[in-house]
Amino acid sequence: MKKELILAIETSCDETAVAIIQDGKEIIANVVASQIESHKRFGGVVPEVASRHHVEQMTIVIEEALQQAKLTMDDIDAVAVTEGPGLVGALLIGVNAAKALAFAHNKPLIGVHHIAGHIYANRLVKEMQFPLLALVVSGGHTELVYMEDHITFEVIGETRDDAVGEAYDKVARTIGLPYPGGPHIDRLAHEGEPTLDLPRAWLEKDSFDFSFSGLKSAVINTLHNVKQRGEEIKPEDLAASFQASVIDVLVGKTLKAAEKYNVKQVLLAGGVAANRGLREELQKTFEPFDKQLELIIPPLPLCTDNAAMIGAAASELYKSGKRAAMDLNANPGLML
Ligand code: KG4
Ligand code: ZN
Repeated sequence: MKKELILAIETSCDETAVAIIQDGKEIIANVVASQIESHKRFGGVVPEVASRHHVEQMTIVIEEALQQAKLTMDDIDAVAVTEGPGLVGALLIGVNAAKALAFAHNKPLIGVHHIAGHIYANRLVKEMQFPLLALVVSGGHTELVYMEDHITFEVIGETRDDAVGEAYDKVARTIGLPYPGGPHIDRLAHEGEPTLDLPRAWLEKDSFDFSFSGLKSAVINTLHNVKQRGEEIKPEDLAASFQASVIDVLVGKTLKAAEKYNVKQVLLAGGVAANRGLREELQKTFEPFDKQLELIIPPLPLCTDNAAMIGAAASELYKSGKRAAMDLNANPGLML
C-alpha cells in the first residue's frame, strides 16, 4: 500500500517549521528555524519581528524539508498547516504558504489546531490508546485534555490566568534571566533547594483548573521584600521553590484526573514538557501503575514548537476526510 506523506507547516509563534510525516507517525524530514536570538534582546516575542522572519524563512525551510526527505511535491499527499491559535501575523505566513503550495500542486489542504499538534507529538513516540489524558503545558496554554478517540478533545481543566510557560518566563525576567526563561529556571532549580514556602493554587476541591498568577506574584513579592530588608536570597533556591510549587500542582491534578477518568495513557505536551523536573516527577508518579497506565513523554525537540507534531495530527484529520477550503484563514483564538 502506498505510504501517506503529509507536508506540515507551523508558524504560530517564533519558529518557522516544516516537516514531512509518513503515515502519521514517522518523521521523514523535520526542519525548525528558530528566531529566539532576534527576540532575546526584547525579552519576549515581538509579533511584527516574528512575522518578518517567517516571510524570510518560509520558502527556504520548505525547500530544506523536501531536500532532507529527498522528495518533491509530487510525492506529497496533503499539505497541513497550523491555523491557530497563535500570533495572527505569524500564523498568516504559514497559512498562506500552505494554501499556495496546495493550490499550485493540486493537493488537499488541512488546517490543524496548534494544541492538537502538541498532543500528537506523542504519536511520533508511541501509538495512542484511548481513553487518554494529555497535560498540555506551553507558553500560551495550560490544559488537561481528555480524549476518547482520535481528534476528539474535551478540555476538563485549564488555567484561569497565566499559562505555566508564561509564569516561567515572567519569573525568569524578574530574576534577570534571558528569554525564554523556562529552561534557565529549570537549570537553576536543579542547583538549589526549595527552601521558600510558596503558594499552591489547588482551587476548588474537584476542579482540574489551574492558576499561576498568585504564585508568580508571590515570587516577585518575596524578591522585593528580601531586597528591602537588605537580605539576599539565592536565585537557585527561588527557582527551586517556584518549580516545586508548579510541579506539585501540575502532577497532583494530572494524577487525580487520570484516576477519575480511568485512562490508559497520560501524555505530556507543549514547550514546558521539556522541563526536567516535571518529566522526572511524572515518571516517578506514574511508574507504580506499570502497564495499566502508560506515561508518554516526547523527546525534547518535539516538546517545543515544531511541524512534525502538526503533520502527526493532520494525518488523523486527513484519514477522516477533513479538508480545508482555499479560504482557510488564520484564527488566533481558535478553540480546541
Ligand atoms: O510550546 P511552546 O514552544 O510555545 C507555545 O506554544 O507557547 O512553549 C514555549 C514555552 C516558553 O514559555 C518556555 O519558557 C517554556 O515553554 N519552556 C520551558 C522549558 N523549555 C521551554 N519551561 C520550563 N522548563 C523548560 N525546560
Ligand atoms: Zn506551542
